Amino acid sequence: MEPEKLHIQIYLCLLLITSSYSNVGKMTSSQNHFGSTVPSQFITKNNTRVIAQKGGLAILPCVVKVNSPATVSWIRRKDFQLLTVGLSTHSSDKRFLVEHTRHMGHWSLRIKAVREDDKGLYECQLSIYPTQSIFIELKIVEAVAEISNTSDILIDEASTLQLQCKLKGATENPSFVFWIYIHMSKQKHSFP
Ligand SMILES: *[C@@H]1O[C@H](CO)[C@@H](O)[C@H](O)[C@H]1NC(C)=O
Ligand SMILES: *[C@@H]1O[C@H](CO)[C@@H](O)[C@H](O)[C@H]1NC(C)=O
Repeated sequence: MEPEKLHIQIYLCLLLITSSYSNVGKMTSSQNHFGSTVPSQFITKNNTRVIAQKGGLAILPCVVKVNSPATVSWIRRKDFQLLTVGLSTHSSDKRFLVEHTRHMGHWSLRIKAVREDDKGLYECQLSIYPTQSIFIELKIVEAVAEISNTSDILIDEASTLQLQCKLKGATENPSFVFWIYIHMSKQKHSFP
C-alpha cells in the first residue's frame, strides 16, 4: 500500500502547482495592442467584490505597484462617470473620496453613506499606455436587528428574562444598539 499512497501525494502537489501558476498568469499580465504582454501594475485582485451596508462606508480597494508612476482614476461603470483623478474628486457628489498612501500604492475609493443605487461595477484605471484597469463590484446589503426569541414568552413575576438581539447583514459594528420596551397591558392567559 505504501508506494500507492506516495504516488497520489505527488500527483496532488503537481495539480496545485499548475493551477496556481495559471492563475498568476491570468492576473499579472494583459495583452497590449501589439500582442505582447505587459505585466499588470495591480496588486489588488481583478473582479474583487466588496460588500457594504446601506448608510455605511464602502472602501473599494485598488493597490498598485509602489513604483508605478501612473495616475489612478476611478470610473463608475454604469454611467461612465469619472469619480476621481489622482487625489482629486471629479464628481459633484462629495461622498466619493480617494484614500491614498503613497509609499504603499493604495488608491482606495471611499464612498460615504452608501445607497442602494451605488451598487455595481467600479473601474480603477491606470494612465499608462496601454491603459490598465481592474474592476471592483460593490454590493449593498441592509443590516437588520432582530430578537432571536421571536415567539411570545411567559415568565413568572420577579424571575430573570434573557433576550438575544441578533444583527444580520451588517458589515460594520453598530454605533448603538437600542432596546425599546413597549409596554402592553397585562393580558389574561387561559390554559386548557
Ligand atoms: C480585469 O478583468 C477585465 C474583465 O473582467 C479585463 O478586461 C481587464 O483587462 C482585467 N484587468 C487586468 C489588469 O488583467
Ligand atoms: C433567548 O435566546 C437566548 C440565546 O439563544 C437564550 O440564552 C435565552 O435564554 C432565550 N430566552 C428565552 C426567554 O427563551
